[in-house]
Amino acid sequence: MDETERDRAKRLAGESAADAVADGAVVGLGTGSTAAYAIDRLGERATEGLDVQGVPTSYQARERARAAGIELTSLNERAPTVAIDGADQVAGGQLLKGGGAAHVREKIVDDAADRLVIVVDPSKETERLDQPVPVAVLSAARRPVAEAIETLGGEPTLRSAAHKDGPVVTDDGALVFDCLFGPIERPGDLAAELDSIPGVIGHGLFVDAADEVRIGRQKDITVREP
Ligand code: A5P
Repeated sequence: MDETERDRAKRLAGESAADAVADGAVVGLGTGSTAAYAIDRLGERATEGLDVQGVPTSYQARERARAAGIELTSLNERAPTVAIDGADQVAGGQLLKGGGAAHVREKIVDDAADRLVIVVDPSKETERLDQPVPVAVLSAARRPVAEAIETLGGEPTLRSAAHKDGPVVTDDGALVFDCLFGPIERPGDLAAELDSIPGVIGHGLFVDAADEVRIGRQKDITVREP
């Protein structure tokens, strides 16, 4: 699957999820290129008269939604009826997220939603999660968190920014370690261990999180309910 085909698959997945949103919905707006297609389509539907409000998961999602014409709200005002979000890997209902360093807010919004719809292209499907786990960390706790991750068997690498000298800093001011654990046999156990490290703000393991996974293909989509 080349880039154009992948992009077509992402578009189908994202747009189909937006097409399924009901009138009056409050929608958690995920981050990344696939969720962006959902945001754009939701904006089109809002322009056509759909009653919808969005709860963005990042600066990127907020700006995209604003440009698309979606009325914005926040978790402190409304609970999302559905969240539409992308993922970096999907194994059944288990997700690995955080490729765009938005996983802390994504987890909060996705968890608050009545239903989480994940939109991906086929390259994201896997038997087992095995990519590095993004871990957001307080800058002041960088060394002890790295040591705790190593004790768990992980190899933490501080994520560097592509267009600035130094590390990536998230929308909430955290640094990100990408932590290689190899194939993750028990995501729930690893998630609990990472959550228990002081200084960890959040990580990209979303355990039993997806209610629906929409996998875009070239001409259609596959919908799974894990
Ligand atoms: C953002 O931090 C991630 O969790 C994204 O949801 C994930 O990287 C998916 O992005 P794409 O849809 O661009 O692959």
